[in-house]
Amino acid sequence: MHDDAAAIINRIQQLKREHRAIILAHNYEPPEIQDLADITGDSLGLSVQAAATDAGVIVFCGVSFMAESAAILAPEKRVILPRQECGCGLADTATAAQVREARRRHPDAVVITYVNSSAAVKAESDICCTSGNAVNVIKRVPADREILFVPDRNLGAWVQQQTGRRLILWNGCCPVHDAIRADDVRAARARHPEAAVIVHPECRPEVTALADAVCSTGGMLAAVDRLPPREFIIGTEEGMLHPLRRAAPDRIFHPLKMNGMICADMKKISLVDVLRALEKQEPVVSVDQDTAVRARSALERMLDVPRN
Ligand code: 13P
Ligand code: SF4
Repeated sequence: MHDDAAAIINRIQQLKREHRAIILAHNYEPPEIQDLADITGDSLGLSVQAAATDAGVIVFCGVSFMAESAAILAPEKRVILPRQECGCGLADTATAAQVREARRRHPDAVVITYVNSSAAVKAESDICCTSGNAVNVIKRVPADREILFVPDRNLGAWVQQQTGRRLILWNGCCPVHDAIRADDVRAARARHPEAAVIVHPECRPEVTALADAVCSTGGMLAAVDRLPPREFIIGTEEGMLHPLRRAAPDRIFHPLKMNGMICADMKKISLVDVLRALEKQEPVVSVDQDTAVRARSALERMLDVPRN
């Protein structure tokens, strides 16, 4: 490791102790941020950890909807997102006004919102889900109720297929996962014929249909333990290769596509940003009280539902 990086990490550890801070990082963050973090995980795991920690300060290395969820679930804690501008192209596909309008069109529907959404959209929802528990969330809805699923049409299609329930799908998608095509899967299988294919449920139905396993980023770590092959083709943001290689150094992981599987928002936070954030104790993520109260009940209902 470069001397400068080692000095920055030392200073970060010192400030963490002084401020009783904990660093959470999503599985897509750059390797050095994941290695620095106290806890890494998927959206569901990080939400659970944010709600449970007794640290006074949470430094959230991820994107804004994740940090907002942490702020909502842990209102007494200071939640810091080292770079405020880390957004999510999928979350941007739904606004609170649009969800209210959709509710008017479907007054009897249960509104289930994927956590990749703003706090304002969560506040308009009955319950949230992550890719880690979406199937189980849907299974809990009485069979005679209509379901409006916001905002990811691909995750919605996958859940629909897993549960046999018909959902009213919002027309949003993740630009990174939606860009993966069936031909990319076929080409990757041709390159690595012995490998099992694991993809994220934000991928198109034509892609999930060709996969051996479909799971959240946290679920991928568990799937690798469960599946027999030694080689895997991974269809999600390329940051995921780091925790997989760290957890299973005896296995071989290939990205499904050679390029293009990068979420720019997940790559913005550097070690220097984390250091600055701890020194200045900002930028703080805050959600207005009314929105937070309504979003919290949707998030808390989600936390009661086990993983798929
Ligand atoms: P996970 O909940 O599987 O970590 O996914 C989050 C995400 O942003 C996927 O693009
Ligand atoms: Fe959002 Fe897609 Fe990035 Fe995940 S990978 S944070 S869904 S834009």
